[in-house]
Amino acid sequence: FFGLPHQAPHERVLIAADEASGLRTLIAVHNTARGPGFGGCRVWAYENDLAAHHDALRLSQGMSYKNALANLPFGGGKAVIVKPKGEFNREQLFAAFARAVDSLQGAYITAEDVGTTTADMRVVQRHTKYVSGIPREGAFGGDPSPKTAWGVFVSVQAGAKAVLGRSDLQGLTVAIQGLGAVGWHLAEFLHQAGAKLTVADIDPGKTAKAQAQFGATVVGVDQILAAPVDVLAPCALGASLNATTIPTLQAKLVCGAANNQLALPSDGNLLADRGIAYLPDYLVNAGGIISVAREYRGEGEEQAVMAEVSRIAERVTELLARIKVSGRTPAAEADAWAQSLLVRA
Ligand code: NAI
Repeated sequence: FFGLPHQAPHERVLIAADEASGLRTLIAVHNTARGPGFGGCRVWAYENDLAAHHDALRLSQGMSYKNALANLPFGGGKAVIVKPKGEFNREQLFAAFARAVDSLQGAYITAEDVGTTTADMRVVQRHTKYVSGIPREGAFGGDPSPKTAWGVFVSVQAGAKAVLGRSDLQGLTVAIQGLGAVGWHLAEFLHQAGAKLTVADIDPGKTAKAQAQFGATVVGVDQILAAPVDVLAPCALGASLNATTIPTLQAKLVCGAANNQLALPSDGNLLADRGIAYLPDYLVNAGGIISVAREYRGEGEEQAVMAEVSRIAERVTELLARIKVSGRTPAAEADAWAQSLLVRA
């Protein structure tokens, strides 16, 4: 499909444009065997249309796997909006996007992702009911990022125990690439648990704040992946782990929020060959989708959702046990595990 290395074809891809608002969107529904495709909407200044296609297809497949491993009654879907060049009216843009979502009649449910906010989702909500991640007066809902960060944090704990033999995170060194909505919350959780942080972000304001608040060591964006640490947490954009960067890594464990961290599936082998345990992104970063999925179904309750997110740690432990039996890499094992759940559904 588009000549890209996807393990399963997508069910449906909608390409929609709206001249008045400047909207150009691509909504990919990967697999609905478990339920409607559910995944966020990304706004990004893609280099070209093929790059946008590629991102939507990879991200939506990742959502199928993420939702299956998180045991949610949803399939995989994802939307990308090509960021309009120059000035644009955000409200008009998201109203037009919402109409595109609505035209799929529930095959895809949207939420926040990189480049979108809860305010954008409020606009979407005015034009379609197929949206989640909206702050609600006196009810559960809103920004999924802290839940995503919590899921990554408990995964670091589980990974540090299984891989590094650590019973707590006191003194554990962790490099965080990207101090955005998820990376910042992750830094807070890790700092509270006694970890020592090394951070990088293209925004110097964020790193300066982390230095002041957490005593973090600040390094350049071109140095963070190779930082001399126990754990690397990629929390910026995808494809940071590739044939160029993997040979430079010093961490023994990789566990972060960014979607599609591996540039290619074979990069999972490169990591394993170097003795680096990679905890697959879609396994550990499911906290946000758990939150918006429960909100969407009207089942949200803070403590119950946090408890559900905490159970990601059990699946990390199970994955690391499974690879001892199968001999697969964690990335290949997680793919196989998720695919088996899609087939069963
Ligand atoms: P965000 O846009 O709030 O944060 C990204 C951060 O990375 C920004 O601070 C940005 O300045 C920084 N950044 C960009 N390029 C960088 C580079 N080359 N080096 C260092 N820093 C760089 O995004 P958010 O929401 O925190 O998401 C982060 C990642 O986690 C994304 O890949 C997203 O798809 C993924 N994710 C987010 C979820 C959520 O609940 N927000 C849920 C699941 C996955």
